[in-house]
Amino acid sequence: MPYESTRSAGTPYEVTATRKRPQSFTELVGQEFVTATLTSSIRMGRIAHAYLFAGPRGVGKTSVARILARALNCEKGPTDTPCGVCPSCREIARGASLDVIEIDGASNTSVNDVREIRDEVLFAPNGGRYKVYIIDEVHMLSNSAFNALLKTIEEPPPYIVFIFATTEVHKVPATIRSRCQQYNFRLISTGEIKEKLREASRELKVEAEDRALIWIAKEATGSLRDAYTLLDQVVSFADGSITFERIREKLGVLGIEELNEFARMLRAGDAGAVLQRMDAILGSGVSLEQFVVTLTEYFRNLLFLKSGIEKDTLLGSAPEDFDRSVLDSLTAAQIEKSIELLLGLYRNIRFSLNQRFELELLLSRMTQLDQMISPADIRDALRQMRGELAAEPGARIVSPAPAAGEAPQPEHRVDPGQAVKKVTEALRREKPALASALERVASVSLEEEELVLTFSATDHFQGEVVLKDKEMISSRLAPFLPRVSRIRLAFHETKAEAVKEDQRVELLRKVFRGEVVKGDADGDKSV
Ligand SMILES: Nc1ncnc2c1ncn2[C@@H]1O[C@H](COP(=O)(O)OP(=O)(O)O)[C@@H](O)[C@H]1O
Ligand SMILES: [Mg+2]
Ligand SMILES: [Zn+2]
Repeated sequence: MPYESTRSAGTPYEVTATRKRPQSFTELVGQEFVTATLTSSIRMGRIAHAYLFAGPRGVGKTSVARILARALNCEKGPTDTPCGVCPSCREIARGASLDVIEIDGASNTSVNDVREIRDEVLFAPNGGRYKVYIIDEVHMLSNSAFNALLKTIEEPPPYIVFIFATTEVHKVPATIRSRCQQYNFRLISTGEIKEKLREASRELKVEAEDRALIWIAKEATGSLRDAYTLLDQVVSFADGSITFERIREKLGVLGIEELNEFARMLRAGDAGAVLQRMDAILGSGVSLEQFVVTLTEYFRNLLFLKSGIEKDTLLGSAPEDFDRSVLDSLTAAQIEKSIELLLGLYRNIRFSLNQRFELELLLSRMTQLDQMISPADIRDALRQMRGELAAEPGARIVSPAPAAGEAPQPEHRVDPGQAVKKVTEALRREKPALASALERVASVSLEEEELVLTFSATDHFQGEVVLKDKEMISSRLAPFLPRVSRIRLAFHETKAEAVKEDQRVELLRKVFRGEVVKGDADGDKSV
């Protein structure tokens, strides 16, 4: 969380996240699949020896683990509705049960703990039916701890149940995973979080504006724990009433209005005004990092809108909140460029000598988006030049060997790459976002009747845009490639491949450097 708690130390009351820890399966929100499966298997008496709870932080893994422990050891159990009042239920709730052992995989004493488990499991539970080991952040265990664990879960005594929780399931060795019943916890929707926040604020006896709760819910990005923590923080300065204005004032939040205005300034190209506004924003308490992140999100949302995606839970704001004039003034390529610049800055911020200078430089560049030339522009210009030169009598352009594909080919022998380029050009006016996504195709190949478009892994977003219009692209390709009946998308990981992505532009650079620029007296190297 980017915010620091402003509450004074030694607060008498319990934090909301702890106070509202669900005590039964029915109190859990947003994990219907998990709870339905667990409760029905408890009812049928099918208890597994090892469970693996995977999912993001703050979505209920630890809570469910404790409820499950109670369900198993409740006097009235095993039951999917633990009573909550018997000694066993109460001990577990207090964390005092000798039969429920919680281990934090992230602490370095855990290796020893795991080793001890190996010996301990031989002893039957103290009072309960089961001895339950809850190992949180299990992916953090060292290799030797995993090995010790593996021996234990291979042949556990019948009264042993392991519940592993992890936020990074891919780091849990397959040997462990394969022995567990895995449950995937999902992010909780903004709507569900908002409901819980409404409930919590009522219990805290504070009034709350809808807009403010929605903001908190969104800020929590799917984690109910984070939402409660932020709520507590906001309540601490709310004076009995939570309003968006107050949040904005206290936490230096940038609203969509301010972002629209900032974007309008960027588009107007007045670097002076932009820098002054930046100064005012940072002066109002927004941290530089937060500003960069917010601005990046804003441009990312513009890119979504440009591609016709209007879902407000994806955008974090209603589509009509975004200034259309800003959106219309930008091409997809310019928006991409902005995001690229901002992400680049975000990556480098931590290593920078002066973060503020970097931001100023970047914003000043962003006022000149219209002057930036995209690879597609360069290519078009080159094509045009070629055409003009070719029309001149006596002039001759020799294509370097690898560009042989450029040479005009009889229509019936169009190669797949060429065909995709042609379709891309044809789509440029009609569907600019799609055309620019198609431009990111790193390579095209034909596998039987299937045309495979390979993207670099970093171009996942463009891949999705293409995927959406697969049918249409396929029908446009048909005249060039009659044999193709399907399109498939592939992504490759390697950086080296991605560099090859626009070989022609690279070639073009070589051409200019080698034949045109070289002739310059001062030999400027930057093409
Ligand atoms: N699905 C959920 N339903 C209700 N409350 C939840 C849920 N997920 C998280 N919480 C709230 O957040 C707190 C922390 O949840 P926890 O179960 O520890 O999350 P995790 O183990 O996944 O990080 C709980 O005490 C509870 O207040
Ligand atoms: Mg947890
Ligand atoms: Zn009980």
